Amino acid sequence: MRRFYLKTMGCQMNDHDSEVITGILLSLGYQQTEEVEEADLILYNTCCVRENPERKVYGHITAFRRLKEQNPELRIGICGCMPQQKQELQKMLEKLPHVDLIFGTHNIHRLPELLERANSGEQVVEVWDESQYEEGQDFRDELPVQRTDGLKAFVNVIYGCTNFCTYCIVPYTRGREHSRTPEKIREDVLGLVGDGYKEITLLGQNVNAYGKDLSEQTSFSDLLGDLNSIEGLERIRFTTSHPRDMGPELISSLANLDKVCEHLHLPVQAGSTSLLRRMNRGYTREYYLELVEKIRKAVPGISLTTDLIVGFPGETDEDFEATLSLVREVAFDSAFTFIYSPREGTPAARLPNQIPEELKKERIYELIRVQNEISDSIMRRMIGTRQELLVEGRSKDGLIGRTRTNRQVHFAGGVELLGSLVDVEITHAGTWSLQGRIL
Ligand code: SAH
Ligand code: SF4
Ligand code: F3S
Repeated sequence: MRRFYLKTMGCQMNDHDSEVITGILLSLGYQQTEEVEEADLILYNTCCVRENPERKVYGHITAFRRLKEQNPELRIGICGCMPQQKQELQKMLEKLPHVDLIFGTHNIHRLPELLERANSGEQVVEVWDESQYEEGQDFRDELPVQRTDGLKAFVNVIYGCTNFCTYCIVPYTRGREHSRTPEKIREDVLGLVGDGYKEITLLGQNVNAYGKDLSEQTSFSDLLGDLNSIEGLERIRFTTSHPRDMGPELISSLANLDKVCEHLHLPVQAGSTSLLRRMNRGYTREYYLELVEKIRKAVPGISLTTDLIVGFPGETDEDFEATLSLVREVAFDSAFTFIYSPREGTPAARLPNQIPEELKKERIYELIRVQNEISDSIMRRMIGTRQELLVEGRSKDGLIGRTRTNRQVHFAGGVELLGSLVDVEITHAGTWSLQGRIL
């Protein structure tokens, strides 16, 4: 019996690709292990959106050379976004010559054949530039998927990204926007609900662009409306939405469709219009603030989360202050904060006035401090409110559920409640989690 160890880095696209990779490997007779020492196949599903995780990949894979000396049968593989960049692929082959298998994000379905060749001793490198499919087609459709959770599932709706934000590598690693058909998506969701799933998260780098590349007249709002009618499905979430494409239709879907949860991840990236322009985000500070106002008016109590970058080339003190003031004005429930990381091949990496590392760090600490204060006060305001929870798991002394606004709540209750919806009152708020009691 052969065992595989799979490490997944990056975003939910990669998380879901790893579910497919796991499905394939299990169907080939492999078993999963959490111990690299036990593995006959070590596979890293990589991310290249920032430099740090990339460095980790080189560090870890170099260290695994030792394991190969102990177990000549061991195969080491790298897949995901890193190999999609030509320079990175070259660098990998130079620095990690002991790697046996490299593939990309567009040819996961080729894994069985590629692995067989790697197992027979060949060094296999196969990376496709783009997915080779017709409109609406999807190579993942025919593949087994191994989901770890029986309650919540990811469903891809659109692949790729053609926004070309100037800092971002994703359009180069994931290719052009490519929507799945509404029929395929519905079929997937019906299958999941039949298997007892209660919640789906629709995935795409920009789900708001869903349908634009299909000849059939459809949109993301249409898709949400269609899925909302599926009986037995309790909750619908989606990520990510580009603020530029957040039209009135989608806002009313958020407001009116009962299964669509009151949470929106709406990455703003920066607070100054001049930075936003240089990032090629396609909106201004004022547009974003007005958009937030419209959304909050239509969906009172909605939880808003965001992504922020500090240290973009040429970011002045005033630009950074504008980010802080936007964060204060919107009062996001939470934010992912990132230090700008130059990515080879992107326009921003070639800009003058790259910001020194020290200053980037100062700025991110300040930003995190401001955001934490806001998050704290939002958490405290939840005390005394009534919340619907989907009961997702057990904790040390009870159960864990999640609110429609995507917050975890710990509460006392019996295991028979797992998988059901319960109402609780929030009794206590910490920095990261809430406690409640069943009503
Ligand atoms: N498609 C999504 C997320 C893409 S990557 C979106 O557009 O919102 C997730 C986040 O990583 C981005 O929102 C951005 O904040 C951050 N990011 C992307 N490229 C980066 C870079 N070069 N340096 C630092 N952060 C980056
Ligand atoms: Fe990157 Fe921008 Fe596309 Fe998001 S929308 S994946 S930040 S290029
Ligand atoms: Fe990273 Fe690729 Fe996602 S670069 S953020 S894993 S699309």
